[in-house]
Amino acid sequence: MTEKEKVAIIGSGNWGSAIARIIATNTAKHENIFEKETKIWVFEELIDGQKLTEIMNTKHENVKYLPGITLPENLIAEPDLIKSVDGATILVFVLPHQFISRTLSTIKEHIKKGCRAITLIKGFVVDDQDEIHLISDMISESLGIQVSALMGANVANEVAQDMFCETTIGCADQKDQEMYLKLFNTKTFRVSTVSDVYGVEICGSLKNIVALGAGFCDGLSFGGNSKAAIMRIGLLEMKKFAQMFYKGVESETFFESCGVADLITTCVGGRNRKVAEAFVKTGKSWNDLEAELLNGQKLQGTLTCDEVHRFLTKKGKIEEFPLFFTIYLIAQKKVEPLRVFDFDEVTTEFKK
Ligand SMILES: NC(=O)c1ccc[n+]([C@@H]2O[C@H](COP(=O)([O-])OP(=O)(O)OC[C@H]3O[C@@H](n4cnc5c(N)ncnc54)[C@H](O)[C@@H]3O)[C@@H](O)[C@H]2O)c1
Repeated sequence: MTEKEKVAIIGSGNWGSAIARIIATNTAKHENIFEKETKIWVFEELIDGQKLTEIMNTKHENVKYLPGITLPENLIAEPDLIKSVDGATILVFVLPHQFISRTLSTIKEHIKKGCRAITLIKGFVVDDQDEIHLISDMISESLGIQVSALMGANVANEVAQDMFCETTIGCADQKDQEMYLKLFNTKTFRVSTVSDVYGVEICGSLKNIVALGAGFCDGLSFGGNSKAAIMRIGLLEMKKFAQMFYKGVESETFFESCGVADLITTCVGGRNRKVAEAFVKTGKSWNDLEAELLNGQKLQGTLTCDEVHRFLTKKGKIEEFPLFFTIYLIAQKKVEPLRVFDFDEVTTEFKK
């Protein structure tokens, strides 16, 4: 008999908890393929004096990051990162990207030989030389394993309420594509698979920059036409970036849920859009707004925007991405928000 797959979920924020609900439901449903018990690593914190892991394992709810949603009883919250990955054959990475490096070095010596990973993390890591590292590459280089990516128009709170949506899995291995379908697909969370891992992942990371632009439109009280224009131009810059710097990225990937659909939902309802709107309306700092509006969740767009800017500066390609550059300058308060629509002129004015 072939060994059952054992799944470990690394991260338990808003999206981590929502996807854990789906995963644990499916590991219980497909007990012939997966071990039913599914561990989720929780960065421990106290809620009214009680450990979050204890609350999750008794109340079956992540009261801080996904309140009001019942989690399956076969989902076990584990505060010890090393214990959470013990014996796992599939590692699901779903934590804010600023924590990935430390997480990888902690588990490096403790993972099972032959395991695979899938990343749901949106964002890059940029090193001291201003080189971009995709999270999938970081995982595969650090752990020496195959890595796939899952991205889509998936606002966690809606997914958790079983509102219909689609998602895209980029996975190079045909057999693993089938296994991931079993692990993630539900009636209301419809999964498509493609082999373009980089394309899927890059869509998910770059869209948060465009979401800041969409938030600026809202902060300025501009209407749907302007926001749609920012989204369209943003999508073209996303595609250009992915194909300029990464081999094998397919144009079709941008029409999957991870591309155009995720961009739309992020620019209409996501957290980066919301905070960018408040940034224009209040003039407060990003840090203050993150603390005020996101209840412990992390704002990714400003970090990604800064990282992409450093990378493009190093490559001498700023001028080819005028919208990204202008959004960066607005986020840095170097340019008035209204100039988001003037991106060509701004780029000519500010390029070195
Ligand atoms: N929320 C969404 O709707 C959504 C949808 C799709 C993808 N994503 C992506 O999924 C990833 C995870 O996002 P999320 O929404 O689950 O997280 P989140 O922003 O809701 O929560 C933050 C998480 O980080 C943990 N944390 C805090 N400090 C930490 C530390 N020092 N070390 C490790 N962990 C720490 C917290 O315990 C919490 O689990 C992100 O890349 C995000 O872009 C989110």
